[in-house]
Amino acid sequence: MELKALVFDLDGVITDSAELHYQAWKKLATELGLTFDREQNEALKGVSRMDSLEIILKNNHCSDAYSAEEKETFAFRKNEYYKELVETLTEKDILPGIKALVLDARAKGLKTAIASVSKNAPRVLERIGLADYFDVIADAAKVRNSKPDPEIFLTCAQQLGIDPRACIGLEDSQAGIEGILSAKMYAVGINVTVTGSSPDLMVGSTGELSLDLLLKNFVAKGE
Ligand code: BG6
Ligand code: MG
Repeated sequence: MELKALVFDLDGVITDSAELHYQAWKKLATELGLTFDREQNEALKGVSRMDSLEIILKNNHCSDAYSAEEKETFAFRKNEYYKELVETLTEKDILPGIKALVLDARAKGLKTAIASVSKNAPRVLERIGLADYFDVIADAAKVRNSKPDPEIFLTCAQQLGIDPRACIGLEDSQAGIEGILSAKMYAVGINVTVTGSSPDLMVGSTGELSLDLLLKNFVAKGE
């Protein structure tokens, strides 16, 4: 089966907004007197806002200390901090190699999609000037199951009208890699701290990615 589409995660793959998520959670955690560090943050990558909050509370043994309303307020606050940081993004924040890869792929007739569970994904893409370079941007508000569930990747494939096995998924998180593999896409990991299934191909940074590299390595599942 020929490669037909590239399905990108956003945060940490297209731009370093994974760092902005970290900073926003860190600010909230500090205000609440909770511990939170970059190591704990790894487990939050690709995970929805409310699930991320639950992980932070659980790590601090205080999941039951707050009501559902309080938790909603905390998640809202974190999002306000995050949105402020998003407004500082510019084209310069596109990670190395990404724009060239997207342009090369489209020039060769491949489709491109964004599979991000972030409700802020459209704004991030606008800020960095890439909103018009994707055929599909999955609507995070409609996704019921966060990564590691394959739902968002399958949604992208379906909206593109392409068999998932003809797609490459690119991710920086373990949850995302699991989602790509369950969707039967070829999984490319970008500096993933592997704690579960390994991606089919791993690179140390986005700067190592090129369409040539992907075409050389791609093998459809089951072939
Ligand atoms: C993912 C990030 O892309 O989106 C997570 O990796 C984040 O860290 C999730 O929690 C949800 O994002 P948002 O912007 O809807 O809170
Ligand atoms: Mg990510």
